Amino acid sequence: MQSDSRLIPVDPFVLTVFGATGDLARRKILPALYHRDLDGQLPDQATIIGVSRRDLGDDGFAALAREAIGEHIRPAEQFPAAIERFIGRLRFCPVDASSDEGWPELAAAVKPYADRVQVLYLATAPDLFAPICERLGRFGLANHVARVVIEKPIGKDLQSARRLNDAIGQVFSEDRVYRIDHYLGKETVQNVMALRFANALFEPLWNAGHIDHVQITVAESLGVEDRAGYYDTAGALRDMVQNHILQLLCLVAMEPPRSLDADAVRDEKLKVLRSLKPIDKDLVGALTVRGQYRAGASPKGAVPGYLDELGEARGASSTETFVAFKAEIGNWRWAGVPFYLRTGKRLPTRVSEIVVSFRPVPHSIFAGQAGPVEANHLVVRLQPDEGVKLWLMIKDPGPGGLRLKHVPLDMTFAEAFGVRNPDAYERLLLDVVRGNQTLFMRRDEVEAAWAWIDPILQAWKDNNMAPRPYTAGTWGPAASIALIERDGRTWLEDAA
Ligand code: BG6
Repeated sequence: MQSDSRLIPVDPFVLTVFGATGDLARRKILPALYHRDLDGQLPDQATIIGVSRRDLGDDGFAALAREAIGEHIRPAEQFPAAIERFIGRLRFCPVDASSDEGWPELAAAVKPYADRVQVLYLATAPDLFAPICERLGRFGLANHVARVVIEKPIGKDLQSARRLNDAIGQVFSEDRVYRIDHYLGKETVQNVMALRFANALFEPLWNAGHIDHVQITVAESLGVEDRAGYYDTAGALRDMVQNHILQLLCLVAMEPPRSLDADAVRDEKLKVLRSLKPIDKDLVGALTVRGQYRAGASPKGAVPGYLDELGEARGASSTETFVAFKAEIGNWRWAGVPFYLRTGKRLPTRVSEIVVSFRPVPHSIFAGQAGPVEANHLVVRLQPDEGVKLWLMIKDPGPGGLRLKHVPLDMTFAEAFGVRNPDAYERLLLDVVRGNQTLFMRRDEVEAAWAWIDPILQAWKDNNMAPRPYTAGTWGPAASIALIERDGRTWLEDAA
């Protein structure tokens, strides 16, 4: 429970969580704040006000927070004194987000903390974002030090995203809007920036002249669980690609920003999004693969198919639970370099990985018995077992003829540093308090991502491109393998 001198303390704040009884608050927000408190990073004057329609009272909210900590914090990190200190920070206020009920009381509850940083976290259903913002404005809660935090889905297409951004923008200027993409808060995702811009080694090679292709895989072994209602209206393209995967692609592909300043970084990401080559009706069949899982196996045993999980009512759903892409960025740095992207539910394992595959040596001096000279790969493993591997060719040690071997220079972070990787929300929440928007999506980024996604959705529809079935526990439809293999390349499943 000792405070770590490397941690930068934050200013006094009051964080109001709308949707405080929901899944996001229980699973992520409360545990993340507890962790930061445990590490001694929260100032004495840090207060968390839970808001929901159901009136829990202070005691009920405290009980909910205890439960959340019990469920989502490792037992070794559950210290009674720290839990009590954290619980002491909590207040509760019943408010109906869709009417004026409870708002004057909330304004009164926040008033004593007027001199602190105000954070308003909308952990609610997205259709409440606009009405809540409007009331925050009307009831005087959106003052000049207040920041609003929202999370995807930010719209379901470009038009609805614009509408939502407009509604939020009526009340909060862009420098006070924090759009979370929790992938940007992941430790190893930030490592992509560290690797690229804190080493002289990679950047000179980081272009079409030296990179053959890039692969990004975000695989989950879980199915849609209890989120089928939302998921069925979204699908893998909206749920994972529009946000997380495109953000990863931006970090890999962007030009070096002038600094880590929020707009410097976001300007560069925006340029990448705007340079993505459009995938239209004519190309969509060749460049994208949709899939939907059927009954099969997960690491924990037999599992039903997606349609069975949805039940009778939605039995005919054509929502994709898997998607693979070949994307291209139309600029000088990346011309002709394919970015193969894929994500899906009920794949064999949970793994997220970026593979940068370099071009082969131009000419091999080694004779046949030395074996093939394989290409170098840089593999950034986001989860689990975070780390970086650089695959190199070396001489196989030992006597006898010269044989070559492909081996990784391995930096598995848990082994190298022995530290706990903080959850993305721990960093992101405190960045909001600090007023640092670097890891949050700016309005134009979100809209540029939709502008690339929309035509794909439309083309799927126009071409009646139904998802192809795949068996739960496999790497998606065979067409995803064909997508990359017809270019003479292969998905690197065990790259890390
Ligand atoms: C969420 C998606 O944004 O990210 C989920 O809505 C997905 O469908 C999740 O499961 C994956 O996040 P993580 O951090 O577990 O990789």
